Amino acid sequence: MTGLPWDASYHGGPAPWDIGHPQPAIARLASEGGFTGAVLDAGCGTGENTLLVASLGLTVLGVDVAETALAMARKKAIDRGMEVEFAAADAFQLERLGRKFKTVLDCGLFHTFDGNERPGYVASLASVTEHDGTLYVLCFSDEGPDTGPHPIRQEELRAAFNPSNGWNVVTIKPDRIQTRFHENGAPAWFATIKRI
Ligand SMILES: C[S@@+](CC[C@H](N)C(=O)[O-])C[C@H]1O[C@@H](n2cnc3c(N)ncnc32)[C@H](O)[C@@H]1O
Repeated sequence: MTGLPWDASYHGGPAPWDIGHPQPAIARLASEGGFTGAVLDAGCGTGENTLLVASLGLTVLGVDVAETALAMARKKAIDRGMEVEFAAADAFQLERLGRKFKTVLDCGLFHTFDGNERPGYVASLASVTEHDGTLYVLCFSDEGPDTGPHPIRQEELRAAFNPSNGWNVVTIKPDRIQTRFHENGAPAWFATIKRI
């Protein structure tokens, strides 16, 4: 939560998840028109997915606790001649942003949190997602072979997001997460979740 361990993962070469281009699942979502309105990319890392959303002409904010990742993301935006907002923020305290978003992206963040951290994270997401807005979660799945380091069961997603805490899981579909260590990506869930 301090950001220091995460920041260290951006020193001395690319982090395992930092593949240098948007995740294919997110690129597909973008091409299908899945992003609308103001967009938040929670745990944006070095910003490839955020920059992809910005290239659609949408207003997007990328937030992360790792200042090194944010600096890399801002440099990419400058190098590509884009104006994109990146900010340091804790995903557990998103209400401090004082903003609401129609679409929220979690690409590889949910699966980093332990079960006891999830309620706080989910409440934080709820505080910044417009009613009828959409949250997309791309996380490692438990359906191997060659699962990623924090595999999540479908039931865990359904337990974390439910009508009692303001969410409705619409779909959970099998997908892949590309990493620097999986030749064809690791098994993933792609969840579409509506704020109610
Ligand atoms: C697995 S990486 C995924 C990065 C990016 N979404 C991507 O697809 O390349 C998880 C990211 O979440 C960030 N992160 C971890 N805990 C966080 C927190 N509490 N608040 C904001 N960002 C956090 C990390 O610094 C890291 O950049």
